[in-house]
This record gives sequence, C-alpha cells and structure tokens, in this order.
Amino acid sequence: MFNFILASMMALNFFAMDVDHESQEFVSETASQSIQIPQNCQALIEKLYQYINEEKKPIEGSCISLEPMSAQRISTSESWLPGTLIFAGSSEANIDTLILYLNESECCKVISQNDNTELTICSIADLNLNQESYDAIYRLSDTNLIKKSCAEYTHSIAAPASFLDEKFDSYFVNEQQLPYVISPKNCSEISLSDFKAWAEDHQNELKDLLTWQGAILLRGFPIDSADDFGTIVKAVIGRELNDYKGEGSRNRIAQGVYTSTKAPLKFKIPLHNELTCTQNPVDYICFYCDIAPEAGAGQTILARTEEVTTEMMKKQPIWDFFNGKSIKYISRHPPEGNFFARINPTHRTWQQVFETSDRNEVESICVQKGYDFKWNGDWLEIIRLAPAIRGPDQYFDHPYWYNQAHLYHSNSRIHGGWMNHLLANLLYIAPSTRAYDVEFEDGTPIPKKVVYEIYDTLDEKTIKFDWEKNDVLLLDNRRTLHGRAPCVGPRRILTAMIQ
Ligand SMILES: [Fe+2]
Repeated sequence: MFNFILASMMALNFFAMDVDHESQEFVSETASQSIQIPQNCQALIEKLYQYINEEKKPIEGSCISLEPMSAQRISTSESWLPGTLIFAGSSEANIDTLILYLNESECCKVISQNDNTELTICSIADLNLNQESYDAIYRLSDTNLIKKSCAEYTHSIAAPASFLDEKFDSYFVNEQQLPYVISPKNCSEISLSDFKAWAEDHQNELKDLLTWQGAILLRGFPIDSADDFGTIVKAVIGRELNDYKGEGSRNRIAQGVYTSTKAPLKFKIPLHNELTCTQNPVDYICFYCDIAPEAGAGQTILARTEEVTTEMMKKQPIWDFFNGKSIKYISRHPPEGNFFARINPTHRTWQQVFETSDRNEVESICVQKGYDFKWNGDWLEIIRLAPAIRGPDQYFDHPYWYNQAHLYHSNSRIHGGWMNHLLANLLYIAPSTRAYDVEFEDGTPIPKKVVYEIYDTLDEKTIKFDWEKNDVLLLDNRRTLHGRAPCVGPRRILTAMIQ
C-alpha cells in the first residue's frame, strides 16, 4: 500500500485539475444582464475607442445593460451619468451616431455618414438631437464600470501599430485576438542584432502596444536560445530581468531566464496572474518556446484580466466573499534530501527555492521581499499576505480580480482527481508538512465550492494559441492571465520576468 501511495505521489501534481464537478450551489443567480451592443456600429465604437485610448480619458460611468430610451427622455436628459453611451439612428438596425457623455460640458460624438466616421467634442446643449429621426436610442445604465462593457470588444479593434513599418506583419491567430502577433516580412533578412536594435529604438511604442493588447507574440525571428530570449525581452521592455530567488518552482537556465513549472505536463495549470501572492507582482512575464508541444495541446493558455473580473463581478457572492480581504498564502519547504522533496518534485526544498544553503541569506531575502517566515526545525515556512482584489490604481480605473488563492488551495481538482487528493491527504497528514495552504488573513477558510466556481469561471474565459519553436510571448502581467493546457510532451517553455 505504501509503495502504491509513493508511486501515485510521484505522478501527483499540485497545480492540476480534473473534471470533478462537485457542489455548484454557491453560484447564485447572476444579477447582471449581458450587454447587447448594436451590431452595425463597429466603426463608431472603434473611433470612440481610438479617442479614449489616445486621450487617455478617465471614463468612470457605466453600463451593464442596454435599455431602449425615447427621444423625449434623451432630450430632457434627466440624469446623465459620466460614461453614459447613447446609440442613435433611424432604427435599431441603422445606428449612425454614438455619443459618450463625459461631463456637463463635454460629450464625445461620433457620426458615420457616407462611409466617413467623424468624431467631435461638444456639450450636451450642442448635440442638436432631432427627436423625429431617433427611433432607436439606448442608454447604457446601471452603476458598474464602462470598462466592463468595453472589454467585450476592445480586442476587435485594430491596434495603432503603424510604427511596425514595412519590415513587419501583424495579425491574430485566434478569433479572440489574443495574442497580437508580430512577424518579420522576410525572416532571412533580419538578424537578432538588427531586431534588438529596432526594438530598443521602438521601446515605448512596443510597451504601449503590449499594454493595449495585453499579449504580444514575436514569431519568426532568429531567437534561437535562452540567451537570445533574455536579450530580446530586455530590448523590448528596457529593464533588467528579475532574479527569481525565493519565489518557488523554477530552475535558472541563463541570467534571468528560468524553466517554467516542474508540474508534470499531463496536468493543467489554471489561469493566474504571476506572483499575485506578493505585494508587488511583476509587471511583465515572458515565455520562450524552446521545444514546441504538438499542435492542439500544451498551449500557454491566456485570458484578459478585465474579462475575468467582469465574470467574477457577475457572480456577486464570489466577488463579495473576496472583496476587501487579504489572502494569506503559506508555503512550506523541506531541507535538501528530505523525503517529501524526493517523492514529490513540485515540493521544492528551501535550498532550491532560494538558490543557497545559507540560512542567513534566506532570511535576508525574505526580509527584503517583505515575507513573514519561520523555521520549524529544518523546514522553512513562508507566509505572504496580499489583497484578493486590487484597484483602482495606475493599471485599471476599477477594482480587478488579482489573486492566486485557487493555486494554493488543496482540493481534488487541483490534485488531478479524487484519488490523488486522497493520497495527498494521506501523505501530508501532518499539516506542518503541507507544501501549500491558503486562507484569509483572519484565518477564515476558503471553501472548496468557491474555489471550484473560480476554476469554472477561468475556464470560460480561456484563450488558446499553438506554440511554434522560437516564439516569444510577452505578457502584461496586469492585463493578462496565463496558465498551461495539458499535453503528453515533449514541451519546453522558458520564462523571464520583469518587475
Ligand atoms: Fe505562472
């Protein structure tokens, strides 16, 4: 029996899920309705977005549903809220005007006539709404954030990437349009040093584009090694690569370049933003495809933070349960040669995690990073506190879902099925040996049914693309979540992070 447990534990992965749909009753009715943006006004929306993006207008109003509104009501405009959007036209199927109300003296009005789309700024008084001609008028109502509805279609708007000039192509490889792909028009004509020099010259544009799109894939460039990968990431972002000491499950390959997780390939890694268990998560996480998995498997899965946030907000009990709370992430690391580290490759020793055998150095890294820690004999226990939901801040003008409680939680889905979960519970029967634990700061546990609802929500928002050898994927860690789809191998993806 003991050998059976050991053999099973070798295959056990702590970031794995299985299709194990347990209690779903926590999910309440979703209060929000989905937004029905008129289908025929994409040009208007694109123009408006271009304006919002270029002017960096703070839009605070909001919308969750579209409601029909009479011309009489709009002309009296009894209660305009910043962020109110009005779609107007001769009929619902023929919208030619889009108005965004910013404040008393400023409206953004976009009109499409004769294939010409024009944007003007005016006051409410200057709108000159002709009641006779407005048969279909909508006001976006409710008190949620306009960004939520905007996230529904930002991905369909072409990026302002004229700086790519004649040397590069840009396109999408999936219908969700994430990531944004940049490729050389002629692969044989660009060297690594040429591309590095070009990226350094266009750093600001590339970073703006990355923030706008959330994910950029560099495909077809002569990026042939871990060192090349590090060189290009530094050239694009313009900062040094992070030292990953003290953060967990990676091995160093080159300066600032690490293996991705050691979790067995057959298990899925749920979507997450990197290092949200810390007070200051990295700004960027980047990946390099050294060995591409077979098509249709092993993808680095993606999702947009805003879309995940929107879904979590719709599930009001989940959102309210986490809102305003800090999460306590606990990790426990055995010493080198320990039984648990030998039978479970994802249970890393503190020497591996901190790349040193010097306890003083370990302690000083913990202090520097602001981690609480204690020694339990030869074991090191690290406690990190971080908010479950962040914002508004410099990244988003609204609260956003930004935690990884679901990665630290122990349950049968993360363990790859109930049998593995049972075996894990048997092996880790002493709580002081568990690799991970998670709870709220005040010690309140996070119920399994809540975590399962998080998994399901993340699954709904998952976006995939297939890797090709030497691809480089750049992610804005605030705007984009990542994870891993399972595969049978081979697959080798490297990673680098930038604060
Ligand atoms: Fe990650």
